[in-house]
Amino acid sequence: MTIKEILVCGNPRLREKSEKVAKISKSIEQLVSDMFDTLQKAKGIGLAAPQIGVLKRVIIIDLHTKDEDYTGVMINPEITKKYGEKTVMQEGCLSIPEVYCDVERPEFIDVSYMSLYGKKEKMIGVGKMLSRVIQHEVDHLNGVLFIDRLNKEERMKAAVILEKSKNIEKQKPESNL
Ligand code: NI
Repeated sequence: MTIKEILVCGNPRLREKSEKVAKISKSIEQLVSDMFDTLQKAKGIGLAAPQIGVLKRVIIIDLHTKDEDYTGVMINPEITKKYGEKTVMQEGCLSIPEVYCDVERPEFIDVSYMSLYGKKEKMIGVGKMLSRVIQHEVDHLNGVLFIDRLNKEERMKAAVILEKSKNIEKQKPESNL
C-alpha cells in the first residue's frame, strides 16, 4: 500500500500538460495501484496522475451514487463528443481543499481510452455524474483546474476561501508542520 502526497493548488506541476502513455509497463501498473491507494485514503471519487506529481495521461475513478456505479482506470482518455445541456454542478478537488464551487459543463460525453490491459475502449453516453468526473479529471491532464472554469462570482468566492486557508497555514505553529 503506497499513499502518495497529493499536490495542492499553487504547485506548478498541476499546471503542466501530461504526456500520453505509449504502452502499459510495470511502472504504469504501479502508478495506478498507488493512485487507488491514495484516492481511497483521501476518500475522493477521482484522481489524475499529475495530482501525485506524475505527468502521464492516467485517470482513475471510484464513483458510487444511487444511480451510477463505476470504478476504473482510463489511460490516454479522450473526450470524443460532448452533448446535452450545459449543467451546473458543485465540484471540489483533492488539490484544492475546502473549495466547492458551481461549475458549468456539458451534461454528457463520449470517451475513448486505453484499458490497463492495453485494449482500446469506448464509452458512449456516459452517465451524468461520471461525465462530470471524467471532464474534471481530463482537465487535470491538460493543466486545467476547476477554478479556471468559474464565473466571476464563484471565482471571487473561491479566492476568498483560498486566501483564508493560506493564512491558516502561516499561523500553524512549527511543531504542526
Ligand atoms: Ni481534481
